[in-house]
Amino acid sequence: MRPTRRRALAGGLALAAAPAIAQPAAFPPLTQAAARSGRLFGCAVEPHRLDADPAFAALVARHCGVLVPENAMKWNALRPAPETFDFGAADRLAAQAKAMGARIHGHCLLWHEALPAWLPNDPSRREAERLLRDHIARVVSRYRGRVASWDVVNEAVERNDRRPDGLRISPWLRALGPDYLAMAFETAHAADPAARLTLSDYGLEYDDVSWMVEKRGTMLDLLRRLKRDGRPIHAVGLQAHLLGERPAAFGQPLATFLRQVADLGLEIYVTELDVKDQALEGDPARRDAVVADTYRRFLDVVLREPAVRMINTWGLSDRYSATADFFPRADGSKGRPMPFDADLKPKLAAHALLTVFSD
Ligand code: XIL
Repeated sequence: MRPTRRRALAGGLALAAAPAIAQPAAFPPLTQAAARSGRLFGCAVEPHRLDADPAFAALVARHCGVLVPENAMKWNALRPAPETFDFGAADRLAAQAKAMGARIHGHCLLWHEALPAWLPNDPSRREAERLLRDHIARVVSRYRGRVASWDVVNEAVERNDRRPDGLRISPWLRALGPDYLAMAFETAHAADPAARLTLSDYGLEYDDVSWMVEKRGTMLDLLRRLKRDGRPIHAVGLQAHLLGERPAAFGQPLATFLRQVADLGLEIYVTELDVKDQALEGDPARRDAVVADTYRRFLDVVLREPAVRMINTWGLSDRYSATADFFPRADGSKGRPMPFDADLKPKLAAHALLTVFSD
């Protein structure tokens, strides 16, 4: 018997839908779970990976409402020569985000790393100010209305540099003094008054690491100065590269720090979340359980703070994880710091994210 057109269509649809059910895509979208808790969720990506790997791109599109350029908007990507800008990779990422309906968290306008080789080590004050203002004005205005928020200054605090104000002695600080921060935020704000401007740093997470606890104080002092002087800063970023081998010491002191930041009228973003399993022993199942538990315990505290508006992981799948590459395991096995495994399947960490967003 000849099937009716309707039946044929239904059959076709059923066939088309069947594999999707068995695929990792069946895992509920993290971005929707995050949205139910009033938060944005996204991840850092390299635009060329999204182009080369459609299955990975589909995973990112499904789960992420925010894309962060892992490297594409850093100075060494954008600035091949002193007077030249190359927006190729950054524009590609902007197009991919648009196609996915994702917003962009820009990363990063000033950092002491990822600087191009041509940049002088010790520029004069005049030269440094010209470079800083030019770069930020040009980049932020190009993506005005397309990049919703920016890491304006990345890793500005370094207590080991032993300045009384705790600021890192970066090329920017050496040339311009501590005012480089104000200059960076003001320039970004003038180029896109609607963009949310962020100061992001690492080492603010653990309650039982004394230098991190001290760094929270240094960061608060810096934020107070910036706010007192009326600088256009809107958020603080916690990178949150967490350590699977450490006990997950996240409790009241972390909650208090977040509240103190919020009391300054600032939002809080988790900007680079992952959990290293470099030094974790045991088989993947055991390591995955510890990694997931670390994600859960950290976010349990962090998500109790209403000022926390966005959670971004540093990658999404173990297939592409700079953290796993930079911190190789002694046994030679591939690191598993991300929510999805190298086959793009959700791990316990993905379930942990889903749970904390739904709690
Ligand atoms: C890392 C990228 O993931 C790598 O691909 C690159 O080689 C070096 O930079 N803190 C940051 C990020 O703010 O920009 C860094 O990203 C990881 C640490």
